[in-house]
Parts: sequence; structure tokens; C-alpha cells
Amino acid sequence: MTAKHLELTQVGIDFPTPKGPFNALTDVNLKIAKGEFVSLIGHSGCGKSTVLNIVAGLHQATTGGVILDGSEVREPGPERAVVFQNHSLLPWLSVYKNVELAVKQTQQGKSKKALRDWVMHNLELVHMTHALDKLPAEISGGMKQRVGIARALAMEPKVLLMDEPFGALDALTRAHLQDSLMEIHADLGNTVIMITHDVDEAVLLSDRIVMMTNGPSATIGEILNINLTRPRDRIALADNPEYNHYRHEVLTFLYEKQRKVEPVSAHRKNTSKGSSKGKKPDAA
Ligand SMILES: Nc1ncnc2c1ncn2[C@@H]1O[C@H](COP(=O)(O)OP(=O)(O)O)[C@@H](O)[C@H]1O
Ligand SMILES: [Mg+2]
Repeated sequence: MTAKHLELTQVGIDFPTPKGPFNALTDVNLKIAKGEFVSLIGHSGCGKSTVLNIVAGLHQATTGGVILDGSEVREPGPERAVVFQNHSLLPWLSVYKNVELAVKQTQQGKSKKALRDWVMHNLELVHMTHALDKLPAEISGGMKQRVGIARALAMEPKVLLMDEPFGALDALTRAHLQDSLMEIHADLGNTVIMITHDVDEAVLLSDRIVMMTNGPSATIGEILNINLTRPRDRIALADNPEYNHYRHEVLTFLYEKQRKVEPVSAHRKNTSKGSSKGKKPDAA
């Protein structure tokens, strides 16, 4: 890793609960270079969103901390824009106005023309200039995510934080947005941390995949470097042995090394008497 850009050092967090503190994360150490695209992957509930929220400044780490370009992260800031799974656009503002508002809040002092040009430029990046005056309720889920991404990009963040940004979309829309995101990342070279539960998405988009262990006290289990050349083409990669090797590595981590035992196996044992002779409930 070359330049020190974003560093998570010994990050841990305890959440207060009625039963006492719950240690969600422990000893999370990660150094990210400028312009790197990093994915976080791990089973549901392991602590991915918590890591992202600590970097966003929405949660305070109990131990350790986060440093971005030499300054400690203590609160949310426009240099760390977040895109959530459920867009979070303001429903009473048009597509154009949603992006404009973010620009007005973060880049005061722009002339009227510069403001308009900048809003339009960012909506062009996500191919949404055809729907400027539409309200969020009048556009599809994929389009809303596009606007959410444009809004985040328009703030010119040093780091773009994305929490399962395409998780709620159908496969085709997701593929389109992944391709747009790769293009934008190639153009702008911003640092991205993206949470995903989609192994193909992680391999296609990332420079590194950070694989997290199951909680409580979750931490980084393994980090996989993805050395596929860019630009990446999903069709060409489908039968690329290197691509499939990376996929296999992530799948092995998730389903062998960090296999999550779902209560459904215990349920199945109880409902199908005798069919699981002597097996422990969590062996299925
Ligand atoms: N505010 C909170 N208070 C108590 N527990 C929390 C809080 N936020 C998250 N957790 C717990 O921390 C763990 C990690 O949650 P999260 O980061 O949302 O997981 P993921 O995003 O990987 O699905 C879970 O066990 C969750 O229940
Ligand atoms: Mg989450």
C-alpha cells in the first residue's frame, strides 16, 4: 500500500444493550489507498454496516479509530458521502432538486450557472438527465439509486461509502448500475468502500475484497486482492479462470470457513423425525 489515505486502526465497538455491552466489532485494521475500490463481504449481522457507519462518522468506535488524510473521523462530513440501500431521497423534491440541495449544502458560493452545470454533470454521470423534474415516487428503484449516487458524487467526497447500494434491485438493473459505477470510478478515481452480499459484484468491482468473520466480536478474516485488469467486462470474465478462482475463494470463505448455522436446520430436524439419525442439529 502506498499513500496513507484512509486507516482503520484497532477499531472495536460495544453497543449498549439491556443485557450489557454487546461487542459487535473487535480489532478491525485496514489501510486503504486513494482511489482504491474495496468491498466488505460477510454474513448478515456480522458488522459490515457498523464498520461503514464508523467510517461515515455515524457511530463512534469504542476502541481505536479512523484517520482520513491525517484527520481523525469524529462525525459525519461531506468528504465521506454515504449511499444506502434505500436511496433516501427527499420525496417532495424533484430529481434535479435532490442533487442541487446536496451541492448547495456542501459547496456554498457557487454561481447559479456553476451550480446548475455541476448538478447536470453529476446527473449525466448516472444517465438521469431525462428525468430532472420527476419526483422520487415517479421513477423506478434503479433510477432512485442512480440519483442517490449522483447526489453523493456531487458532494465530491474523498470517500464514497455504499451500503448494499444495489441490494434491492433486480439482476438486470443491478448489472447496469455496476457497469455505470465502474465507469464513474475509472473517471473520477475516488476511493470507494462498498458493502455487498453478492460475490460476483464484489469480484467484478473491487481491487480488494475484505471478508469479515461472523460476530459477535467480528473482525477481518481474510483480504483478497483482485488483480483483474480494468476495464472489466462481465461477459468476458464469465469464463475467465482467474475470475472464477476469486469467486471460489470468496465462496469458500463464506460457506466453509465462516459457515453460518441457520436455525432452519434445527427446525428441519424437529419436523422430519428420524431422517437425521444422530446428527447434531447444526451439522446440516
Ligand atoms: N445500535 C445498535 N445497538 C445494538 N446492537 C447493534 C446496533 N447496531 C448494530 N448492532 C448489532 O451489531 C451487529 C452487526 O450489525 P450490522 O453492522 O448491522 O451487520 P451487517 O451490516 O453485517 O448485517 C449485529 O449483531 C447487530 O444486531
Ligand atoms: Mg448491513
